[in-house]
Amino acid sequence: MTYSLTGKLALVTGGSRGLGKSISGALAAAGATVIVNYANDVESAEQTVKWIRDNGGEARAVQADVTDEEAVDQLIKQIGEETGGTIDILVNNATGAQPQLSIEESEWTDYEAQFRFFVKAPLLLTKAVLPGMKMKRSGRIINIGSEVVQLGNARFANYVTAKSAQLGMTRSWASELGPFGITVNVINPGFIPVEKHAETPADVLAQYQNNVPLQRMGVPDDIGNAIVFIAADEANFITGQSLSVNGGNTFGV
Ligand SMILES: NC(=O)c1ccc[n+]([C@@H]2O[C@H](COP(=O)([O-])OP(=O)(O)OC[C@H]3O[C@@H](n4cnc5c(N)ncnc54)[C@H](OP(=O)(O)O)[C@@H]3O)[C@@H](O)[C@H]2O)c1
Repeated sequence: MTYSLTGKLALVTGGSRGLGKSISGALAAAGATVIVNYANDVESAEQTVKWIRDNGGEARAVQADVTDEEAVDQLIKQIGEETGGTIDILVNNATGAQPQLSIEESEWTDYEAQFRFFVKAPLLLTKAVLPGMKMKRSGRIINIGSEVVQLGNARFANYVTAKSAQLGMTRSWASELGPFGITVNVINPGFIPVEKHAETPADVLAQYQNNVPLQRMGVPDDIGNAIVFIAADEANFITGQSLSVNGGNTFGV
């Protein structure tokens, strides 16, 4: 079965590089028009848009800091003006720096920084796209989580805590928005090397991979493919779920 997203308008936060680039490409390849959001690196965003267009897809880059309320309102307004449409598929993917810190090294602001990306930004964006989704009585809100919620990695509680909060938020939103035909799910990548992991030592990758039942590192397209499925009409009875895409590295929710 091939999933079609023709006629859908998708917004991928942090869609310019890393997993977001693959998610943007996969949604566009399935027929969606994709808004590739970025914060700082316009060159990567334009390259991603060109890559999508060269492959026959439709995309445009829009800059916005998704942790800022005014910027999010402006982003959604700009998308409406430029496309004449409303968002059908929202992928909350953007991330900032992810410092690994012991408890003693941590300040509240380190936790707050992660909450800004994984709780505040999805809240701002979801509020902004809801009027259009409620009017259409359909929509997809897809949060990018992480397997760290299952693993509880040491010295990483700022990130783990925020991703855990995002999971609870996903379930609550699924309950609230189900009656409107809007599904809310979280997709949990395993460790999937992207551009920023170029310097990761081979032994670190090998050690991770050895524990993965499917015995390989994930690739960004593994996430893009899962997102296309969850975004498709065929997944319209799936909501409030936590789907790990990590070769079996974790089990359970
Ligand atoms: N890669 C993995 O192994 C892995 C594993 C588990 C979960 N995840 C999750 O997957 C998602 C993507 O991770 P990644 O590793 O692909 O990230 P990444 O390569 O670091 O890319 C981050 C993206 O977010 C954008 N961004 C940063 N600050 C922003 C802001 N304030 N507003 C809007 N966009 C902003 C960046 O744009 P600029 O370049 O313009 O700043 C970039 O497009 C995250 O939610 C992450 O937690 C990743």
